[in-house]
Amino acid sequence: MLRDIYVGLVDDSFIGKEIKVAGWIDSIRDHGGVLFIDLRDKEGKLQAVLEESENKELYDIAKHFKEESVIAIEGVVRRRPSGTENPKIKSGNVELLIQRIKLLNASETLPFPIDDNVEISEELRLKYRYLDLRRNIMQKAIKTRSKALKITRDFFDENGFYEIETPFLIKSTPEGARDFLVPSRLHPGKFYALPQSPQLFKQILMISGFDRYFQIARCFRDEDLRSDRQPEFTQIDFEMSFVEEEDVMEISEKLLYKLFLELLGIELKTPFKRMPYKEAMEKYGSDKPDTRFGLELVDLTDIFKNTNFNVFKAAIEQKGIIKAIKINTILSRKEIDNLTEYVKGLGAKGLAWGKIENGEFSSPIAKFLTDQEVKAMLSRLEAKNNEMIFFSADKPKNVYKILGNLRLQLGKMLKLIDHSKFEFLWVVDFPMFEYNEEEGRLEAMHHPFTSPKEEDIEMIINILDKNDKEYIINTCESITARAYDIVLNGVEIGGGSIRIHKPDVQKLVFKLLNISDEEADLKFGFLLEALKYGAPPHGGLAFGFDRLMAMMLGFESIRDVIAFPKTQKGTCLLTGAPDVVPEKQLKELHIKTV
Ligand code: AMO
Ligand code: AMP
Repeated sequence: MLRDIYVGLVDDSFIGKEIKVAGWIDSIRDHGGVLFIDLRDKEGKLQAVLEESENKELYDIAKHFKEESVIAIEGVVRRRPSGTENPKIKSGNVELLIQRIKLLNASETLPFPIDDNVEISEELRLKYRYLDLRRNIMQKAIKTRSKALKITRDFFDENGFYEIETPFLIKSTPEGARDFLVPSRLHPGKFYALPQSPQLFKQILMISGFDRYFQIARCFRDEDLRSDRQPEFTQIDFEMSFVEEEDVMEISEKLLYKLFLELLGIELKTPFKRMPYKEAMEKYGSDKPDTRFGLELVDLTDIFKNTNFNVFKAAIEQKGIIKAIKINTILSRKEIDNLTEYVKGLGAKGLAWGKIENGEFSSPIAKFLTDQEVKAMLSRLEAKNNEMIFFSADKPKNVYKILGNLRLQLGKMLKLIDHSKFEFLWVVDFPMFEYNEEEGRLEAMHHPFTSPKEEDIEMIINILDKNDKEYIINTCESITARAYDIVLNGVEIGGGSIRIHKPDVQKLVFKLLNISDEEADLKFGFLLEALKYGAPPHGGLAFGFDRLMAMMLGFESIRDVIAFPKTQKGTCLLTGAPDVVPEKQLKELHIKTV
């Protein structure tokens, strides 16, 4: 070995001992006759000292070493002179008196310093990811991630789960995103898909009788990227047989409890709160509400049902609603204008507002409202002096989007969010289906393998019998799924469901999703077949592991907890992927690009 011990572990107990260490030069300072080198490795730092008077030849060589060069040092550990200790590090009471130094590999001048406190563009960080990862903050993130994986594996092992790997080269499993395709050389014109999740395989493992499965699974989705989305990401994926919703939620909570306790020393209170989807939408305008602050949406539709104010009237005539948010401060005109622009960006037609000043309601829309309407509205909002109200009148979907986002914006703006809090919430009772207006068809809200509530199966049969588009649109929302999402501080960190385990129910759901029998056979024949041979009731969940880690470590972006992430454009700046390939390779794959 080139070393006896990690520098970061050298402490008082080494005083007087001769040691051999190796690492990176974190900093090098020549104090005219005394050279200080902070040597760094994965465990921390150690100050090494070389005096010119002790060894001039070595001093003259070493003083030209550059930061981030890799060196090995032999020397004797001694107590630092009193007053020069550094209580922040483990080796802060001692220093290494250098006897020999070997330059193992000189470093060129770096494109940026290895320093947590220096602002570096993300482009540069990703291009030189190996240097970025040397920074303390990134070392901590990646090490914590590794620990989290170990805790997760131990947890599932202790609870009777098997870790089973499912394939990467699969037939496409639709989960709502686009597939990444892999051409087959042996089967010209045919493609594998990379899994969007192990969904169908884990269900099949339940049919195989393994009872409890988990996997730290890489998933691939070709979707538009954001700060919390990557084209490849990691799920903590699991599935259980003979369970109901509560069983899956309980085991999920236990895992989170253990992760938070062991990684952050935080004891979470379980069970977490449950909120029906409908309540989440109505109160927060979101199916992943950030419940760390109030500003709940208040419905005013009934109060304005006979209004003469055109904007509200028109909305109600088009089956719309009127909702409001109240804040306990009065914003400036400029701030209101900015918020109006913001909601217009979300598709709002405008942002009506009002304020209560000197006990009077004043608003650009006040002249359109009757005294009675104003009185009823203020009373419902419990509005007091020096408060402000924002209104949205539109189709429910639009109102939720507009006020849901406005609420988050106001929460940030008014500093209502306590960033030290971890607020968990289960959102339950999701509708099974969502009507996609553009495509004129129903879509599964979770995925097509999610079970409807037993009592709603009848309704699916009815809808199919009626075969009337209008009726489908109106009724589809009342079919409830046995699905649940777990939300942390307004971020969806996981989701799952109890699955369909009967082939006839699965066929009904496919039918409602406009998937014909032939198409279902073609795409999911293997699943429909498997469900025929004693499929047990089963359900599970998948956590977005990257999102969970980012939240736990306080990062805005999941890129900061992934060793080698892609940019928002899906490129790897370190290696240059995706890239062109030689013509020969394409030919072998029977591919021509146009
Ligand atoms: P779902 O599609 O909800 O469920 O995914 C589970 C969780 O994975 C995270 N996630 C992502 N994280 C980073 N980048 C992405 N592109 C991305 N997409 C999703 C989210 C999400 O909650 N098979 C089902 C699970 C099940 O039903 O058991 C599934 O994949 O945090
Ligand atoms: P208008 O009559 O279009 O000038 O609108 C009157 C006020 O209502 C303005 O303050 C608009 O910003 C606001 N407004 C317009 N449409 C909506 C809407 N759909 N929801 C809430 N406010 C709106």
